[in-house]
Amino acid sequence: MKLGTLRLNNNLVLAPMAGITDYPFRQLAREMGCGLTFTEMISAEGLLRKGEAFLKMVEDEHPVSVQLFGSKPEVLAEAAAKAEAMGADAIDLNMGCPAKKVVKTGAGVDLMRFPEKVEGILIAMRKRVTCPLTVKIRSGWDEKQINAVEISKLAKDCGLDAITVHPRTRAQGFRGRADWSVIAAVKRAVRIPVIGNGDVNTPSLIKRMIEETGCDGVMIGRGALGNPWVFSLKPLGPLEKGPAISLEERKRMIGHHISLIQNYYEESSLTPQIRKHLYWYTKGLPGCASFHSKLSCLKGKEKLLQAFHSYFDSIQRREPCQLSAPEEDRSVTGWGEKAL
Ligand SMILES: Cc1cc2nc3c(=O)[nH]c(=O)nc-3n(C[C@H](O)[C@H](O)[C@H](O)COP(=O)(O)O)c2cc1C
Repeated sequence: MKLGTLRLNNNLVLAPMAGITDYPFRQLAREMGCGLTFTEMISAEGLLRKGEAFLKMVEDEHPVSVQLFGSKPEVLAEAAAKAEAMGADAIDLNMGCPAKKVVKTGAGVDLMRFPEKVEGILIAMRKRVTCPLTVKIRSGWDEKQINAVEISKLAKDCGLDAITVHPRTRAQGFRGRADWSVIAAVKRAVRIPVIGNGDVNTPSLIKRMIEETGCDGVMIGRGALGNPWVFSLKPLGPLEKGPAISLEERKRMIGHHISLIQNYYEESSLTPQIRKHLYWYTKGLPGCASFHSKLSCLKGKEKLLQAFHSYFDSIQRREPCQLSAPEEDRSVTGWGEKAL
């Protein structure tokens, strides 16, 4: 897939996820084969005030797209120029965040209600950056205002290089199924690359999304949590689910991910970071419920690591258990509903 002048190794993309797709997670996704990673969304105003530390990380991280949110054309354009100057390979405008605190400032998905405002923003941003410029949109504000196609045409006319579509409305939040037909409609309407997003967590769903919608790339968010293997292209051969991940491989990956986390975070932030990823990596394994409740009580990296090793020892000692590939899951996960 090519976004403007940026040629990607493949068409799998890690979604921006606030509080999750930090530097270590992006590094891991890239190591596993992911063609493009997105930073968590960052406020354009915040980036201009003191974004040096944030942008420092993207200097040695390629290819990475910096996602901005905001509502003022001149601020977004200035922030985009700053991010590009600091080494971002692409800039993305967030037009999908449904969180109240973002929407009430006129940013995120609120922008989709005001196409003329979007046009002003995109023209201003386009003037200031030469790297690929993209937008990430939802279907629309609610079921009566589905305007993904209209906004996508506008984005294309403003010279944008690609569009990511997460086909749920703001009113839906993260509930229900993503309506992939909206991705297909956008793809039919514009001649720039369209990245489909929503409810993909296995190689077969990647393939299905491409076949059903014609999209050029697939963005994966929640499906990559505890599952960086989803970016490995190997299982895509004769298709379907891909191999089950052995306990040894799972343990190796967790150890590696923890070491990336340790290299990046201060000691005081390690516990919550390690805990949440341990939770995701072990979801669905035998006896995970009691392991998870134990995790929530433990404080300190050492205790978490001890619990992780003894949990894996205990399941490895059991009768060889049948581990399965991740279940295809296009259902509600409850994510993000609190934010609405
Ligand atoms: C915890 C969380 C944080 C998110 N943060 C962002 C964000 O910063 N920017 C954005 O555009 N989308 C954000 N999203 C939406 C995801 O990028 C993606 O569009 C959505 O989760 C649907 O894709 P999935 O089914 O592959 O997870 C977030 C989603 C979750 C669950």
